[in-house]
Amino acid sequence: MFITLEGPDGSGKTLQIHLLEEFLTARGYKVFCGREPGDTFIGEQIRQVLMDHQNKNMHPRTETLLFCAARAQLVEEVLKPHLERGDIVLLDRYADSTMAYQGYGHQFDLDLIRSLLHFATGGLRPNLTFLLDVDPQTGLERRQKGGGEWNRMDAYVLQYHQRVRQGYLEMAQADPQRWKIVDASRQPDVVQSELREILLSYLSNLS
Ligand code: TYD
Repeated sequence: MFITLEGPDGSGKTLQIHLLEEFLTARGYKVFCGREPGDTFIGEQIRQVLMDHQNKNMHPRTETLLFCAARAQLVEEVLKPHLERGDIVLLDRYADSTMAYQGYGHQFDLDLIRSLLHFATGGLRPNLTFLLDVDPQTGLERRQKGGGEWNRMDAYVLQYHQRVRQGYLEMAQADPQRWKIVDASRQPDVVQSELREILLSYLSNLS
């Protein structure tokens, strides 16, 4: 079972995913919890290049390909082996982040990005995706107040982040089977309870 958390910057995914990991582990599930880009030796090196403030002149196409390269490595080296063993994989961002940030954010041709993602992931798709929805202004303010590292992507203009959020909402509305939208502007414990509730009902429908 492959579960992803998606959302604009400052939506609180990182805290929520670790709480979900604890919750599932306590219930006896074997869980792999990771983040993108990163989580492989090669992926962490790519992450450094992507996030480095010195790389101000990185072209959006270069950026897109680097995210895809890190992901291709993660799929083969980590995700597939865990899924083949029957573990639950919980991932903080995946291919939908590239659709939202590079596709909708940079306004690239969405079909082209979709093909690129298919190539990078070998067609591996999540079973369930949570969209932690928050308005970008609130999200970026949370980040600046110390909710995480301030990276090269955060520095893009607010309109960019608004397109990212709209992109997420569009994708989620187009495929409600896979996507569950959760209002992440609320207190973290309230958000966590809703995530757990949705997850438990999803898991019980499978058994
Ligand atoms: P990170 O510090 O992990 O932020 P967050 O806690 O918000 O996930 O930085 C990841 C940044 O990279 C974030 O701004 C989203 C962006 N990103 C893309 O633009 N495309 C992608 O495919 C991925 C995975 C992330």
